[in-house]
Amino acid sequence: MQQVYLDYNATTPLDEGVLEAMLPYLREQFGNPSSVHATGRLARAAIDRARQQVAELVGVAPGQVIFTSGGTEANNLALWARCAAAKAPGRLAVSAIEHPSVLAPAEAWAARGWQLDRLPVDADGRLQMAALERSLASGTELVSVMLANNETGVLQDIPAIAGRVRAAGAVLHTDAVQAAGKLPLDFAASGAGLMSLSAHKIYGPKGVGALIVDRALELVPLLVGGGQERGLRAGTENLAGIVGFGAAAELARQRLRQDAERLRALRERLEEQLAALPGVSLFARAAPRLPNTLQLALDGIDGEALLLQLDREGLAVSSGSACSSGSTEPSHVLTAMGVEAQRARGAIRISLGRHSSEADIDRLVGVLRRQQEWAARAAAW
Ligand SMILES: Cc1ncc(COP(=O)(O)O)c(C=O)c1O
Repeated sequence: MQQVYLDYNATTPLDEGVLEAMLPYLREQFGNPSSVHATGRLARAAIDRARQQVAELVGVAPGQVIFTSGGTEANNLALWARCAAAKAPGRLAVSAIEHPSVLAPAEAWAARGWQLDRLPVDADGRLQMAALERSLASGTELVSVMLANNETGVLQDIPAIAGRVRAAGAVLHTDAVQAAGKLPLDFAASGAGLMSLSAHKIYGPKGVGALIVDRALELVPLLVGGGQERGLRAGTENLAGIVGFGAAAELARQRLRQDAERLRALRERLEEQLAALPGVSLFARAAPRLPNTLQLALDGIDGEALLLQLDREGLAVSSGSACSSGSTEPSHVLTAMGVEAQRARGAIRISLGRHSSEADIDRLVGVLRRQQEWAARAAAW
């Protein structure tokens, strides 16, 4: 049985057109983009085209796109590129709700002598600007704040944050992995100096992403070797993956408005139906959010147990982020928002996408309603 897939923030299915674009580069167009002969030049031309397509998604020059093995590497590279460029350990700040691929490298830099500020968020999951100001006043050189949170979908005011960061002479990195394809992105207008993207969140292949860079910044590579990607990311390029990323980026740009409007309407339908059920908490409902994401908890029901029950009923959702599921710790994102541990453990995330339908939503609500009734009956015993 095909599951009803409601976990698009974890990953998206590969678009058919993207697959078609990739296939020649898995078959006959196998050249190494660094080779000078005609076979190599064909591969190079395909990478150039993909670089242009990704650049257009975020409104930059192609030379500002550094292909990586995904969002995780882009985030690691962003922190490395600036911290390793510093002459001595300094100070960096990350929001408390970042993805583990930002939090873990930040902690690794702290272990190497950097001062690390974990910037708090308010009850809506929005960055506390006063904490950012305090950190900048203490000499922070690099700040990492995600554009859209993968669990709650909450958006940060990146231009306002970047304005403060720049005024203090520091650099802002923003993880835009979840925002790409769901919101219009303009790197220059964001004010960020570094921005991470990932192909598999926009109906492209897994294992490819990009770091968008301000070329005026001094950056140190994480991977050194053959000098690919302007010396910022050595290694023979993932040719078919990069071609797929380019095709997915172009499609995302073309479909952005229609996808966002349809998903917002579906999400609203879901929220309205859920809000009518007793004992349902919808997290960060009043905050600006991605159009496709909803995080919720049912009173008295454990999130992991609910996820497994939904799985048995043929529905794929997530509790927190896919990367941290399997752990019984409450979500660090909800904890940072001040949600108490018991309620945070009950959270599940619904994330809609191109193939989601009203029927999927109605089916989900039906199952949740039944779960809720059973829990209420069990509690009454
Ligand atoms: C906000 C965010 N950043 C980074 C990543 C990591 O991206 P990738 O899976 O391409 O390594 C994810 C994936 O879940 C994410 O949601």
